[in-house]
Parts: sequence; C-alpha cells; structure tokens
Amino acid sequence: MNNDVKVLFSEMEIEKIVSDLASEISRDYKGKKLLLVGILKGASVFMSDLMRKIDLDLEIDFMDVSSYGASTESSGVVRILKDLDSDVQNKEILIIEDIIDTGLTLSYLTKMLLSRKPKSVKICTLLNKPARRKIDINVDYVGKNIEDLFVVGYGIDFAEKYRNLPFIGVYEKE
Ligand code: IMP
Ligand code: MG
Repeated sequence: MNNDVKVLFSEMEIEKIVSDLASEISRDYKGKKLLLVGILKGASVFMSDLMRKIDLDLEIDFMDVSSYGASTESSGVVRILKDLDSDVQNKEILIIEDIIDTGLTLSYLTKMLLSRKPKSVKICTLLNKPARRKIDINVDYVGKNIEDLFVVGYGIDFAEKYRNLPFIGVYEKE
C-alpha cells in the first residue's frame, strides 16, 4: 500500500512531537476553560493522541470544512460541512489542525469563530509549511515546520488514502 511513501516522521518521532505540544498546552491553559476544536478529517488522529496527553479538564468538538471550488489549492472561502455542537462563549478555543499550507482555511475559520465571542481562539497544528503561506496567520503551537512537500499518514490523506498509516511520509507522485 505504501511503496510510494517515504517515512518523514516515524511513530516514535510523532509521539515525542505530540507529547511536547501537550506539555506546553497543559502549562499555558492551566485553570482555563479549554475547548479543543478538531478539523475533520485530517486532524482526527492527532487530536485523539494529543488530548490524551493534555493534563487538564477540557472539552472537545469537531468541525468539518471544505474549500469552495474543485481545485486542490485552498480558495480561502470555506464551506462549513459540520459546525460545532458547543456554545463557545467564554471558552478558550484551541483549533487542532493536521497541516497548515496557504493558511487560507484557518484564517477564515479563526475570524468566523471569533465572531461567536469566545474568550480566545488559538491554533495548534502538527505540521506547518511556512514557505507556502498566502496569508499571514499567527500559529500558536507548531509540531514541526516542513518544506514544501506533500505528506500523508497519521490522519493526512491523498485522495482519501493513507490516513491510516501510523507514520508521516512524503508522497511521491509518479
Ligand atoms: P490551507 O492552509 O488553507 O492551504 O489548507 C490546509 C489543508 O490543505 C490541510 O488541512 C490539508 O487538508 C490540506 N493539505 C495541505 N498540505 C497537505 C499535504 O501535504 N498533504 C495532504 N493534505 C494537505
Ligand atoms: Mg485539513
């Protein structure tokens, strides 16, 4: 299944990255009403590992979004396929994302969530591609910065495949 995927981060490396993020988050949100908002489907694996390592009372919720248009490039206008179940007033929202590329999706989402008057909206991403950014967004927690590579595994897909790989790899298109 994964002959065309070269390991970039092994299971052990991912576990260390996620543990370090969880320690930082546990320290920063001590005593606060934390709501983790996972972005489906890519962040589901990361979110489930991360939340079990955060040593705080917290709530979780998910959103599913899609970019308008057929292109694989983000357009910046986001369609909400599944909205939050929770009322976010007075909560500290931490968006959990698999990977930030152009930044357009999260820029839109952050503004939308801020309009619902939470206490704060911050962003935690497992992977970040700073070289690809089209809009300036403040990313509060970054697992790893990577080059402009197309990655799969640990929740991240190519055409819905490879999400179940336990590691993160670079997908090499023929
Ligand atoms: P953007 O930051 O608005 O451009 O969109 C980020 C989204 O694009 C991520 O949540 C992924 O769904 C997708 N994406 C970006 N880079 C990759 C990649 O290397 N592999 C798979 N999906 C990616
Ligand atoms: Mg995504």
